[in-house]
Amino acid sequence: MTLSRRELLGMAGAALTELGCTLGARPEPRLLPSEIPLPKPFQVPLPRPAVLKPAATEPDIDCYELDARPAAATLLPGLTTPIWGYNGAFPGPTIEARRGRRVSVRLRNSLPLPIVPHLHGGRTPPESDGYPTDLLQPGHTREYVYPNEQRAATLWYHDHRMDFTGAQVWRGLAGFYLLRDDEELRLPLPRGEKEIALAICDRSFTKNGALHYPSLDPALLQPAGVEHAYMGGVLGDVILVNGAPWPKLDVAATRYRFRILNASNARRYELALDPAPPGGHPFIQIGSDGGLLAAPLPHGTLLISPAERFDVVVDFSRWPVGSVITMKNRDADGAAGQILQFHVTHQEKDESAIPAVLSTLPPADASAATLTREFSFAYNRGLMSWTINGKPFDAARMDARPKLGDTEIWRLKSDFSHPLHLHLVHFQVLSHSGRPGPFDAGWKDTVALRAGETANILVKFEGYRGRYVVHCHNLEHEDMAMMANFEVI
Ligand code: C2O
Ligand code: CU
Ligand code: CU
Repeated sequence: MTLSRRELLGMAGAALTELGCTLGARPEPRLLPSEIPLPKPFQVPLPRPAVLKPAATEPDIDCYELDARPAAATLLPGLTTPIWGYNGAFPGPTIEARRGRRVSVRLRNSLPLPIVPHLHGGRTPPESDGYPTDLLQPGHTREYVYPNEQRAATLWYHDHRMDFTGAQVWRGLAGFYLLRDDEELRLPLPRGEKEIALAICDRSFTKNGALHYPSLDPALLQPAGVEHAYMGGVLGDVILVNGAPWPKLDVAATRYRFRILNASNARRYELALDPAPPGGHPFIQIGSDGGLLAAPLPHGTLLISPAERFDVVVDFSRWPVGSVITMKNRDADGAAGQILQFHVTHQEKDESAIPAVLSTLPPADASAATLTREFSFAYNRGLMSWTINGKPFDAARMDARPKLGDTEIWRLKSDFSHPLHLHLVHFQVLSHSGRPGPFDAGWKDTVALRAGETANILVKFEGYRGRYVVHCHNLEHEDMAMMANFEVI
């Protein structure tokens, strides 16, 4: 057997990690075990994040108010967990927006440290996009405006403070932003009680019930990142769905629409339903990060990396009434190997359907590209930092200057598992170490690469001129410099 240099390095890295000595090796995501006995799964009902009511509504704009503040939450039964939440909630309240109607969010920072709100998947002017150093200081309030000139999609908002995104999202600063439009509302998809957003994330807890996170500076003042052993990414052993550990949900034997968000810092999931329905393929994907697919796409399992969204329909009439169905995570064993449980309780008339044609998407036409740029995402042993094209993030350096209205091919290369995200734009995956993968369909804003993979994405720079970022959405990688600037000129 001959091994390439890369494989040898990878094996040496794995061996060193096992010895607890990651110095010099490429750090892998690592489990931070909770200090409490883990709660029994499938005991608490699935919470649904509250839908935020506008404070004021004008003809073309809905005005919301959010307060980012410390709160005492009950995440695990019988324990109080101090969190940082938008309006004190984990996850934050859901904002429901309509295409063509602007949303303004007046955000107050009642936390002791700076925050930066970012609407992930939003085509947002730079002054409202949440550039990582565009800080909202404690005690201050600022208005952010989201134009919503884009397709219906499952977006989410989360903190983006330079060097501390991982720590601050871990404490709870994330919520859904559901953008709807007429095209989507015309479809007979499951709605109301049967359209459910699921934010899946992993967390760890200290013996006091606090959230456990290995920041080098627990006061979050020094931008030092996390303890070296965790710089590959922090994994928790408690799986929370909408803020509840391994919840359960009673369902009728009908179709349900789930907007699934991986809101984890670094954990990837391979979602499966157990038992599988007769004929398999329990997940019918109808949308991706950037909204509806052209046509439904059946999946046996769903591989979802941090920040990705999959909009799926599950038809519970495929299981007998009385079935108990567990959503599992085939990417992990033990506690993190399960997510939530469905109990099919009764028959019900199903008014919904999944149309064979959902939307129209333009074919990905590579010949429209005027330029190809290459970005290589890798760990740099010398710098002990995550880098893009060999360089750690520098707010003062411009890494790319695409022209407004131009289409480019961005060639993304990855040494490791990196979910790569661009602000402002949605893109199409042209190739992903060969053909686009099964989870690359539709409009994406995050593409998940594995070790050694390369993806070509077709990006049209539409919307606004100004400075934005591209980064890895493993939040520990992002905080430890795997980010670059682009300026649309
Ligand atoms: Cu969801 Cu720049 O991030
Ligand atoms: Cu984003
Ligand atoms: Cu990464």
